[in-house]
Order: sequence, then C-alpha cells, then structure tokens
Amino acid sequence: MANEPDDFETFDHILATTRSVRRRIDFERPIEPEVLEACIDLAVQAPTGINAENWRFVVVTDTEKKRSIAELYRQGGEALVKARGVELKATQREHADRLHEMPALVLVCAEGRPAAGSAAMQVGFYGSVLPAAWSLMLALRARGIGSTWTSLLVLHEEAVAEVLGIPADVSQTVLLPIGYMKDAVLKPANRKPAREVTYWNGWGTTRD
Ligand SMILES: Cc1cc2nc3c(=O)[nH]c(=O)nc-3n(C[C@H](O)[C@H](O)[C@H](O)COP(=O)(O)O)c2cc1C
Repeated sequence: MANEPDDFETFDHILATTRSVRRRIDFERPIEPEVLEACIDLAVQAPTGINAENWRFVVVTDTEKKRSIAELYRQGGEALVKARGVELKATQREHADRLHEMPALVLVCAEGRPAAGSAAMQVGFYGSVLPAAWSLMLALRARGIGSTWTSLLVLHEEAVAEVLGIPADVSQTVLLPIGYMKDAVLKPANRKPAREVTYWNGWGTTRD
C-alpha cells in the first residue's frame, strides 16, 4: 500500500509488550530532553477533539520538585488504601518509595476543565488527552524507556499545582514516571481474548 510501511510486526510487538515498568529502571541514567521531545512529537499525533490540542506535558527532573511530587504520590497511595481497603502490590509500594529517584516524571495535563455532569463532555475532554499519554508510553518503550500509567497523584491536584505552578483551570491527568529500562522483561500480558470481550451487532453477542 502506498505510503504505508509493510512491516507491522515491530509495531505489534511494541503494542503487545508496553508494560508498567516500575523496578527495572536505570535510576542513574538521565533522559535526554531531545529524546523525550521526539516522543512527545509522536504522542501529539493522537486524536484531539475539535483539534484543540489542549494537552500539555509537565516534565519534572528537578530533585526537590520530584521529592515533593513523590511525597504527594505516596500520600495518594495511602489514601487509596484507606478508602478502598485495598493493598498496594510490593512493586507499587517500592515504586512509590523510589518515585523521586525516577529520572523524570511526566505529568500529562489538559488545558481547561471538563463540563460537570455530562458524560459526553467528560469523554470528549479526557478523550482528547489520554490517547496522547498512551502514545507517549509506546514511543518511549520503543526507545528503551519504561514508564507506568499512574493516576494516584490527581488526589492531590491542588498541592501538585502549587509545586509546579500549574494554573487552577488546567486539569491534571496521569503521571508517567519514566526511565531507561534495565534488565526489564517485557511480555504480552495475559488478557481476555477479543472473542470474549467483543460483541457483534448488540450487547452480549460474541462470535462463538
Ligand atoms: C486508570 C489507571 C490508573 C492506574 N493508576 C496507577 C497508579 O496510580 N499507580 C501504579 O503503580 N499503577 C497504576 N496503574 C497501572 C496498572 O496497575 C497496570 O496497568 C496494571 O497492573 C496492568 O499492568 P501492565 O501495565 O504491566 O499491563 C493504573 C492503570 C490505569 C489504567
């Protein structure tokens, strides 16, 4: 096909093996700003409602700021454990404890606020920024940089805004702690197959 690469195996491999990477990180190796920007340039090829491009990426490499963010993240984890009665996995706890050591923290933001009470507006608002966050994880992973999709920090949006000077009318979404991978083993996850989660021509009708 004109204008299309015919090798989709590499791309499929990246899609199938972009896992949360929390431990197997080279904590000493900084992320080159140009590499991160190249990944963000790819990420912003994602769809964006009414071409608003309201995504903003706040990259935190400053040691003190990372410490402040990491503390808020840990508090978010504790709050979740209390509220939901769930336990964080050992890898998640360790990740929280070492968050400030991550080479970079990327906070994906969206200018504006979703309209309250409207599912359509929420879908449109977050749907205009989160695909870019996932594309960013894919582009990073293709370059040997691991990341994790995290949402705990949003529990402390105001305090985070204060640390990073984020205006009140900017929505914070996911935080991607990132770093070059070290000895990471990335395999496809054990997920339900398409056959089980895909319905044809109406809810609940699978293709046998
Ligand atoms: C909406 C959402 C919120 C998440 N929040 C967190 C989080 O706050 N901290 C964390 O360590 N992982 C978080 N995760 C990552 C999941 O734990 C992870 O994706 C899941 O365990 C599957 O593992 P995999 O990413 O390696 O496939 C989140 C994932 C999603 C989709």
